[in-house]
Amino acid sequence: MPRETRDSEERPYVVAHVAVALDGATTGFEPDVGRFYELAATWREDVTLVGADTMLAQEQALAAAPRPGPLEGGPLLAVVDSRGRVDDWVWEALRDVGHWSEVLALHAEATPPRGGGRPVQELVTGTERVDLAAALEILGGRAGGEVVRVDSGGALIGVLLGAGLLDEVSLLVHPRLPGVRTHRLWHGSAPAAIRFDLIASRAFEDGLVWLRYRPAR
Ligand SMILES: NC(=O)c1ccc[n+]([C@@H]2O[C@H](COP(=O)([O-])OP(=O)(O)OC[C@H]3O[C@@H](n4cnc5c(N)ncnc54)[C@H](OP(=O)(O)O)[C@@H]3O)[C@@H](O)[C@H]2O)c1
Repeated sequence: MPRETRDSEERPYVVAHVAVALDGATTGFEPDVGRFYELAATWREDVTLVGADTMLAQEQALAAAPRPGPLEGGPLLAVVDSRGRVDDWVWEALRDVGHWSEVLALHAEATPPRGGGRPVQELVTGTERVDLAAALEILGGRAGGEVVRVDSGGALIGVLLGAGLLDEVSLLVHPRLPGVRTHRLWHGSAPAAIRFDLIASRAFEDGLVWLRYRPAR
């Protein structure tokens, strides 16, 4: 399906799948991780695109996770890291954690110098920050890079939305408000008044609702 419905043949189909509370927050509540990843499998992505802040928030869990090694045939993990905030041990752990076949660091020209021998390939686009459009085009050109699933908080999703680079937004709505108020909403800095067309919806018995939208263009 994605191949037929994406906006440009030059870049992959890009979907952001995100767990949200009723106010649109991406943090401050306990998401149903099992259901989240079960639904994420819908897209069988070739590339998982993650923001650096999401990666940094995962450091503790990653440090404790088993490391079976790269997942043969799994998606490629691409992490946006213009400021070089992701440590070398994290790249190594991501490569070996068993969810991805390969790991790619997305950097910009201004990214601070990296140490030699890092266990990760890198792609440099953009001057001050990663040029997301260019990076997606290059990822789309890689063998099999047809579907990118964005797994991040609202900052990256908002920028992608604002640049017209998202083909679908998938919200797994949890029937609660966050325990702590947060400014981290799924749409981040996306321009106001974007309209969306509903593609599909499904309600689950436990009160979760899955909403799939396409930004109207
Ligand atoms: N609820 C969910 O489904 C879900 C999923 C994932 C994560 N999370 C949570 O969300 C939180 C992190 O989310 P977040 O919204 O703070 O950050 P984020 O979306 O994970 O990361 C922001 C990323 O966007 C990049 N970026 C921002 N503006 C940009 C621009 N103009 N051009 C290029 N790149 C740009 C940043 O790049 P730089 O490296 O250049 O700064 C950074 O890599 C964590 O607490 C995590 O646990 C929730």
